[in-house]
Amino acid sequence: MEAIILLGAPGAGKGTAAERLVQRLGVRHVSSGDLLRGAVKQGTPAGREADGYMKQGKLVPDELIGRIITDLLVAGGAELQVLLDGFPRTVAQAEMLEKVVAAQHGRIRGTVLLDVAEEILVDRLAGRLVCPTCAKGYHVRTLPPKVAGQCDTCRVALVQRKDDNPETVCNRLAVFRKDTSPLIEWYSSRGLLVRVDGTGAADEVTERIVRALQ
Ligand code: AP5
Repeated sequence: MEAIILLGAPGAGKGTAAERLVQRLGVRHVSSGDLLRGAVKQGTPAGREADGYMKQGKLVPDELIGRIITDLLVAGGAELQVLLDGFPRTVAQAEMLEKVVAAQHGRIRGTVLLDVAEEILVDRLAGRLVCPTCAKGYHVRTLPPKVAGQCDTCRVALVQRKDDNPETVCNRLAVFRKDTSPLIEWYSSRGLLVRVDGTGAADEVTERIVRALQ
């Protein structure tokens, strides 16, 4: 198993880059947020537990998301090439990942930190629209769909995410600073971190990531 980690604040463009990187790098995209939102929608026990945390912009417990991701990685086996978007998000989760990668005789190929200034993050999240069917993300101004308010692929009405309101966004940014930013030092000290400018057109950002991983 080989894992690439996308690290970045809410709205840094992890999901947008991941959609493009899947084809460029031939990797499987695993988004912890999408997995959790899927579980909430289906009303599974994990989804019922996660819902309250997500609505408030808090992290779900490490054990809950750790179990979901490690089960998936183990099931993927030795051949799995995975792009992790949104996991790990705490040092405890990074330790869980390190264990599962070692147990599978795999490796972490690199961790890409998407750098974006906070005022841009807030603007991106305020204008984000997502497809409720395929989870593809758009932005009303910077990445609009071909037909206003409609998913290009599924042709269903786009929605705003429940956690994209200003108060929850503020909480999510605070959580990133406190709980997730220590991972920058964690991966940097292991020689596994590359910083990439996350501003500019989405395709340009994707190219920068591909180059940084080479
Ligand atoms: P999650 O879904 O992972 O949300 P997040 O990390 O807050 O990240 P976002 O999805 O908001 O942003 P993104 O970086 O993917 O940006 P995007 O590409 O969409 O997590 C949600 C919740 O789940 C968490 O709050 C937590 O409760 C829980 N959770 C998830 N993982 C967890 C974990 N490991 N542990 C504990 N809890 C966990 O882009 C944003 C907008 O900008 C879009 O509108 C897009 O169109 C636009 N945009 C993107 N790139 C560009 C560009 N280059 N130029 C112009 N516009 C752009």
